[in-house]
Amino acid sequence: MASPIIKKAVVHLLAGELVALPTETVYGLGADAANPEAVARIFTAKGRPADHPLIVHLADAASLAQWAEGIPQGAWDLAAAFWPGPLTLILKKQPWVPLAVTGGQDTVGLRVPAHPLTLELLDAFAAARAPGAAGIAAPSANRFGRVSPTTAAHVREELGNKVSMVLDGGACTVGIESTIVDFSRGMPEILRPGAISPDDIAHTTGVLPCVRGRAGMGHETHEMPRVSGSLDAHYAPLTPLRQVESGALSEEVMRLVRVGRRVAVLAHSACALRDASLVCHWQTAVPEPAAYARELYANLRALDALGADVILVEEVPGGLAWQAIGDRLRRACAGSGAGE
Ligand code: TXA
Ligand code: MG
Repeated sequence: MASPIIKKAVVHLLAGELVALPTETVYGLGADAANPEAVARIFTAKGRPADHPLIVHLADAASLAQWAEGIPQGAWDLAAAFWPGPLTLILKKQPWVPLAVTGGQDTVGLRVPAHPLTLELLDAFAAARAPGAAGIAAPSANRFGRVSPTTAAHVREELGNKVSMVLDGGACTVGIESTIVDFSRGMPEILRPGAISPDDIAHTTGVLPCVRGRAGMGHETHEMPRVSGSLDAHYAPLTPLRQVESGALSEEVMRLVRVGRRVAVLAHSACALRDASLVCHWQTAVPEPAAYARELYANLRALDALGADVILVEEVPGGLAWQAIGDRLRRACAGSGAGE
């Protein structure tokens, strides 16, 4: 029996309204994926271009074949290994799947999120919607191009007046968006790095995945995927954000302070300044990738709210474990500064 709050959320979804929901990665802005009008509301609320495809969230891997066709064994294996979890599979869509969800493409993004509240919602929604396929289309619940929300409070700040309901499931435990693996052409390709690594995928499928457009992981191809998370101006604070090498960080802070700049810092090293009050804030993040990722967006939001002239980010280490974080920081820097 679903709880009253879940029942209420199902009623909103069936009415074609928007419900913000927690996942283990980031909060999503959900709507009935089989209802094109409901899906259109997502794009309006986010201010997102309509040709950007959305991820459909499912209750379990068994529903995969209702949404996708020609599913390769490797995709089934990944679903079995990592769902519920921070992995999105891009597969050939079933003909009935609305183009509104797929941004006009013949592929669809699918994932089973690992959050008990949202899994309960997906189950209850599937029961209420039967017969037929039930899925919740949900991009990250931020305005287009901005930092993804990892708490219900972030969602209310971003989109509070645009949703019928925000399901509060606490702070997200992974903190950055799912790894996206495109399996629509038979072999796995990573479109967006995340907590599930290329090694994890190779281990399960026996194939080292290609990585579109980025160096450093697996093989590389150069075609640009149609993925909004692949745009450079993404995940971005309004304050200008710059990455600085660890060894040069204190010196760069001092140089900016001397010319009258108000500086905020996101570092994984302890503050080495003689006087910490020279900066607006020095945020020391945990120097371990999973914990760093969990706090990353909340840290960026908090530093952005300080009204500093610039946020300096200590460059994170190279290597696979930090790859997804490096990717988000690079994009955050590229898109930052719109508030200048
Ligand atoms: O962790 C996540 O994936 C979160 C939570 C809410 O599940 N969702 C998320 O959604 O990050 P969004 O829309 O912010 O990013 C999903 C990315 C987009 O960049 C979108 O373009 C891409 O997935 N995507 C979805 N369907 C696709 C498709 N058929 N082909 C290529 N890319 C696709
Ligand atoms: Mg997003």
